[in-house]
Amino acid sequence: MEERLVTDEVFEEEVSVEGSVRPQSFAQYIGQHKVKQNLQVFIEAARLRQETLDHVLLHGPPGLGKTTLAAIISSEMNGELRTTAGPAIERAGDLAAILTGLQPGDVLFIDEIHRLPRVVEEVLYSAMEDFCLDIMIGKGESARSVRLDLPPFTLVGATTRAGALSAPLRDRFGVLSRLEYYQEEDLIQILQRSASILEANLDDDAADEMAKRSRGTPRIANRLLRRVRDFAQVRGDGQITLSIAKEALELLQVDAKGLDAIDHKVLETMIGMYRGGPVGLETLAASIGEEPSTLEEVYEPYLMQIGFLERTPRGRQVTYAAYSHLNLEVPE
Ligand code: ADE
Repeated sequence: MEERLVTDEVFEEEVSVEGSVRPQSFAQYIGQHKVKQNLQVFIEAARLRQETLDHVLLHGPPGLGKTTLAAIISSEMNGELRTTAGPAIERAGDLAAILTGLQPGDVLFIDEIHRLPRVVEEVLYSAMEDFCLDIMIGKGESARSVRLDLPPFTLVGATTRAGALSAPLRDRFGVLSRLEYYQEEDLIQILQRSASILEANLDDDAADEMAKRSRGTPRIANRLLRRVRDFAQVRGDGQITLSIAKEALELLQVDAKGLDAIDHKVLETMIGMYRGGPVGLETLAASIGEEPSTLEEVYEPYLMQIGFLERTPRGRQVTYAAYSHLNLEVPE
């Protein structure tokens, strides 16, 4: 098999979690209105000019639909989607194998593009800019560089950390789109759409409650829906009512703001061990037994979004709002 690299697994895992609820077209895609409108214009313009779409960088917290958007872009451009990830491409030759296997108009999706090794990144520059590859063949005195033409393609890069991308790589994307946490109204619609696909009966007030506790993230909303549906089936008559939803969310340790056991551990550790901060990222990560990158990319963004955590020059700090949410006294 050619370029079935590590991320195909990531992709399949996501597909199995979200199953058929993943939207297949812009018409089905709810939320991210600005990103969607812009992409629709750029895709339409590229199609009118019979060109490939410029390279697209999607950035933002996990679970907001970067992979889904890449799939929609490829289908709207009538190209095939090829999926891989930064850490799966170890050598320049791995990238060359992927690129030379593309067909004109294909979309190459590179997830976690900020984790591409530098040597690979350098090969990507000419591929993105001129659709060609400069590779060295041979060794020592007989080494020479050959240029390979590539089919025109669109690179869709995804990252949770736009700041970690090198400037030359970032500059080669024609479209930079930042995904934001979803509004509650959008999450309600997503839950209703998914419930209808899964043939689950979801009451409006239960959908509202679940949307409030989904951290602005469709992936979490869809996961909660499946779990709450299980409770409704086993403990009730299958109908997802507000009381079943609340009971299930409590057992799943998802609180009224959508914070889970790890979010609580982060806040409680900061308060219990570091008097609310400031505390450095690495120190905090070690205290709760998580990787600093997971803390920074997965947990912190939402805690900051809802105003429970602040980044200061001296480290992370818990806010008064967090103390109040946890029913704790602010220390003197
Ligand atoms: N499922 C996951 N993300 C979605 C979205 N943005 N729109 C509709 N359904 C979704």
